[in-house]
Amino acid sequence: MCESKKVGIIGLGKYIPERVLTNKELEKMVDTTDEWIFTRTGIKERRIARADEATSDMAAEAARAALKDAGLKAEDLDLIIVATITPDMFFPATACLVQQKIGARMVPAFDVSVACSGFIYGITIANQFIRSGAYKHALVIAAEKLSSITDWSDRATCVLFGDGAGAAVLGPVDQGGILSFHLGANGKAGDLIKLPAGGSRIPATKKSIEDRLHFIKMEGSELFKHAVKVMADAALEATKPLGLKAEDISLVIPHQANIRILNAVAKRMGLTPDKIYLNIEKYGNMSAASSAVALVEAVQEGRIKKGDKILLDAFGGGLTWGAIVIEW
Ligand code: ACO
Repeated sequence: MCESKKVGIIGLGKYIPERVLTNKELEKMVDTTDEWIFTRTGIKERRIARADEATSDMAAEAARAALKDAGLKAEDLDLIIVATITPDMFFPATACLVQQKIGARMVPAFDVSVACSGFIYGITIANQFIRSGAYKHALVIAAEKLSSITDWSDRATCVLFGDGAGAAVLGPVDQGGILSFHLGANGKAGDLIKLPAGGSRIPATKKSIEDRLHFIKMEGSELFKHAVKVMADAALEATKPLGLKAEDISLVIPHQANIRILNAVAKRMGLTPDKIYLNIEKYGNMSAASSAVALVEAVQEGRIKKGDKILLDAFGGGLTWGAIVIEW
């Protein structure tokens, strides 16, 4: 049990696969150009996991790094959450596989499936358990092998996605920590991005494979409009209860879907683009792992200092969205 009412991120880690897939290489795979991809999305390259590397492998690597950063051991964990839409398999949950891989105790372990908003949902869930006093230390991992559900013959989607993992250890802190959160979902717009087959609606058949239904289907330009609105609205909902204005936020760590979405969000929020952390150029969209890896790298690069108020902000398939204000 833990009596603290303040909960913060006390350790961070990431895992990025070695293989780099550049826009130039994609030019040889589909009818596209480096120029189109970069100007429309801000992406130059992305990482692709090895064939023998599953989401739980990347998640476990990120988890080990986060535990080391926190100065904790796997046995110290009371809860493990994995945010992913590319689990190793439907079940067991990837979180259970990670529990075993890192040598954690038999603590609760489950997955959260809200696409790109997963890291923010996961942190918010863990925050509740720690604040309530039920648990002391929680591990939240966002890990994706999107290359496994990407249609490499569809130029409209295959240029966007990449693989990777980021992890955070949450625990009691004396000062600051998670100040507020806002989560939301709109199932009515769920058709805008989905993986149609492989579930109970369309189980895997020869036809579902021939129809390429086991890959991401996306209506990009419609999603774009939703993304700008929900990310800006979520940011407002998370900052409003704290009486914070845009200028009080030192850095926004957003989901990295498209640089044009992020510039439009910055404009709507009244922020200059330099207040939006970007690493999309190197990794593309890693779904839930995007905001997690962005947070890890922003801290590693010294962009976040003690006392800073930062905003995590994401949207994704579902549709879902979420924003969190953290005092570092
Ligand atoms: N290379 C060259 N041309 C392309 C490519 C490509 N890779 N992809 C599409 N085009 C073409 C289209 O066919 C279209 O051609 P047409 O005018 O002859 O019909 C033209 O480019 C414009 O296509 P649009 O889809 O209108 O292009 P847009 O400017 O909207 O950019 C993009 C597309 C990048 C996908 C954008 O809409 C976007 O980023 N949307 C948001 C996507 C997103 O956020 N997805 C993830 C959210 S959830 C999750 O991550 C799990």
